[in-house]
Order: sequence, then C-alpha cells, then structure tokens
Amino acid sequence: MNIYKVMPDLSNERQMRLWYQGIRKQWSATDLDWNAPRRIVSDKLRDQLGRVLTPVLTGEQSALYSVSGLIPVLGHQSQVEAQFYLTTWAVDEARHTELFARYFKRIDREPLSIRRFPAGYLFQSRIVSKDPAEWLAGVLVSESMAQVVSHELKECDLDPVLSDICNGILEDEARHLGFNHIYIEDQFKALYSENIEAADAKANSLRQRVEYVMEGVPPIINALTQELKDVGISMEKILHTLNKVAKDRLEKAIRGGRNQALGKKEKSAEEPEVEAARL
Ligand SMILES: [Fe+2]
Ligand SMILES: [Fe+2]
Repeated sequence: MNIYKVMPDLSNERQMRLWYQGIRKQWSATDLDWNAPRRIVSDKLRDQLGRVLTPVLTGEQSALYSVSGLIPVLGHQSQVEAQFYLTTWAVDEARHTELFARYFKRIDREPLSIRRFPAGYLFQSRIVSKDPAEWLAGVLVSESMAQVVSHELKECDLDPVLSDICNGILEDEARHLGFNHIYIEDQFKALYSENIEAADAKANSLRQRVEYVMEGVPPIINALTQELKDVGISMEKILHTLNKVAKDRLEKAIRGGRNQALGKKEKSAEEPEVEAARL
C-alpha cells in the first residue's frame, strides 16, 4: 500500500526552483531541422559513429528507466519536491532517447548488440540502485560522461543535427547535475546534523560507489579505441575529465552538506546550481 502525504509541504526551495526550470526549458526532437544536408557521407565514418553512439543511446535509455523507477521511491519517502523534479528529468531522458534513436536512422546504422558490446550494458547495470543517494552517486558518473561526450561531439562538428542534439543535451545535463548536487548536499546536511560518524560512513560508501561505477568506463573506451580516435574524440580527455569531474562533484556536495550542518560557511553553496554544473 502506497502512503501519500495529504498535503505536500513543498518547502525545499532549491528543488522547487529546478522543477520550474525543468518545466520551462522543455524542447522537442521536432524543433530540430532534420532536413539539414547530410555531411557524413562516408560509410566508414557512419559505421564508426554508429558504434560510438551505441553507449550513448544505451545510457539515455537506461537513464529513462532508472529515473522513472526512482519517482515512486521518492514518493514513498515523501520527498515530493524531488519527485516533481524527477518527472521532468524523465521527460528529458525520453527526449534524449528519441533524439539518438532518430539519429541512428539519419546515419542509416543500428546500435551494436549486447553480445558485441557487453561493456556498455555492464556499465549501466553498475548504476542501478533503489536508494536515491546511492543511485545519484552512480549517476554522477554517467551524467558527467554524457556531458563530456556531448561536449566533444559538438566540438567535432560532424553534422549540424548532431551538434544541435548535443547543444540541447548539454543544457539538460547541467540541470540534472544541478539536482544531483542539491539532493546529495541536502541529504548530507540532514545526516551530519544527526550523527557525524554515520554521515562519514555514508560519504565513504558513496565514494566507493563512484569508484565502482568508474571502473565500468575503461572497458567501454577500450572497446571503441579506434572509432573514438577516427571520429576525433580524445579518450584520454574523456577519462581524465570524468575521473576528476565526477569525484569533485561528489566531494563538493558532501562538503556543502557537512558545512551547512556544522555551521561553516560554504562559498560554493551560493552559486546557482545549474550554472555551476556546466563543463
Ligand atoms: Fe540524457
Ligand atoms: Fe541526463
């Protein structure tokens, strides 16, 4: 039996602000000019791009599943503001899934099967959790990866449609990472206010979680070494940025919550979350 609050208090102002942004900044695949001339004509480049985009499509689809699955979990915990925001996050991931599914049609290729590309699927399975903070820590890696790859693909400027997709996704991902920061920070503010030892233990378990999810990234990159190089994406840059960005973001959120609970001034907490989450 689900338990619903009769009157949600909606007092988490930062989450409410993101919820409004999530609603106002919606866009659709039909806003793009799919008739723009096709610049990628070589069969080889299409094959390679199809392989490079396989983990991207898998990531978007997995995100849609996991975000949708967390909406009722947050409801059970009466975290209604977060639940509101996740409804827009789910719409974002549905749009991203549609965009890449349509893009595969544009280049006339299909994503690699699970048999030919197990690394991509195994990486996604590392993220799954029904505990929101644990899930968000894992998602920090996949969302930061989506951000870095979209940024790199946009820089490559291979096709105006792909660049437009990446541009829109970068905007959306900054919101997702902004929420990730707020949620984890709020959790640690509450945890550190109650019990410092238990909060430190939780922080360590989330750090381990990020490490565990990160371990799933090199097999993806190794499976696509040649393709990434030929398409023009630096795998060293992806790994380096990812390693630093995902871990730094988790530390910043934990530190922000701890400082708020223990009465210290955290300068970064005053930055608008979405702006701070841009690359
Ligand atoms: Fe996405
Ligand atoms: Fe996302």
